[in-house]
Amino acid sequence: MNEDGRDTGAGGASGDTTHFGYREVPEGEKAGLVHGVFSSVAARYDLMNDLMSGGVHRLWKAAMIDWLAPRPGMRLLDVAGGTGDISFRFLDRLKGEGHATVCDMTEAMLAEGRTRAEKAGREGLDWVCGDAMKLPFEDRSFDAVTIAFGIRNVTRIADALAEMYRVLRPGGRFLCLEFSRVTVPAAEWLYDRYSFNVIPRMGEAVTGDRDSYQYLVESIRRFPDQESFAQMIRQAGFRRVDYRNLSLGVAALHSGWRI
Ligand SMILES: C[S@@+](CC[C@H](N)C(=O)[O-])C[C@H]1O[C@@H](n2cnc3c(N)ncnc32)[C@H](O)[C@@H]1O
Repeated sequence: MNEDGRDTGAGGASGDTTHFGYREVPEGEKAGLVHGVFSSVAARYDLMNDLMSGGVHRLWKAAMIDWLAPRPGMRLLDVAGGTGDISFRFLDRLKGEGHATVCDMTEAMLAEGRTRAEKAGREGLDWVCGDAMKLPFEDRSFDAVTIAFGIRNVTRIADALAEMYRVLRPGGRFLCLEFSRVTVPAAEWLYDRYSFNVIPRMGEAVTGDRDSYQYLVESIRRFPDQESFAQMIRQAGFRRVDYRNLSLGVAALHSGWRI
């Protein structure tokens, strides 16, 4: 943990326990707890994203695709891709001239995404159930790897970064969208009040599951800040690592290349 209580993201640094929101749990239990969260909220996950963020998550995801600048023929792996938002945007930008693989460990999230894709008649997509820390793909098999609001939930972040590096081809691009550290103190004060007082209640009203949204706001506070996370990305082997703050640092986009 660093000086202000945020985790360094090393996962196993505290022995055989790790954090699940503000709770300390045995490392082997975290994935099951995270799976429980997303199984519980899957059916209302997309609606809650719009309500909680006032639709701003759409702008952040658009910024991710802008920075990725997809090229025709690109093969994308979207890790922790959930209901498919990033992959849909990627394919829309390429007008179908690309391929996206959504990999997620929660079947219920993938099922929601598959239903959305079928309704929209989308093509060029695979849905794969798998763990970010042990990706079920060959070395160097994708041109780009993205992860949006996923890495914060992973038990051993360093292992997931190493896996995303492994499956990326040399010259390929890694992009991560995640909640981060608000850079303006007055905004942080307001954001904290909104997060802890409104979001869990909204989660309860919309999904019937307050605890999962309490976990969300706590897990955001446990995630490393922009610089610490950039350093972890470098440690995984990525080069030309850079980041951009979104909405005063409520979220951040991190970018790296496999050279
Ligand atoms: C907040 S959702 C993000 C979904 C989607 N990327 C988006 O931006 O809307 C987090 C997702 O991470 C997935 N996840 C968490 N830990 C994972 C892991 N170790 N491996 C694969 N997926 C994981 C969850 O199942 C969930 O679908």
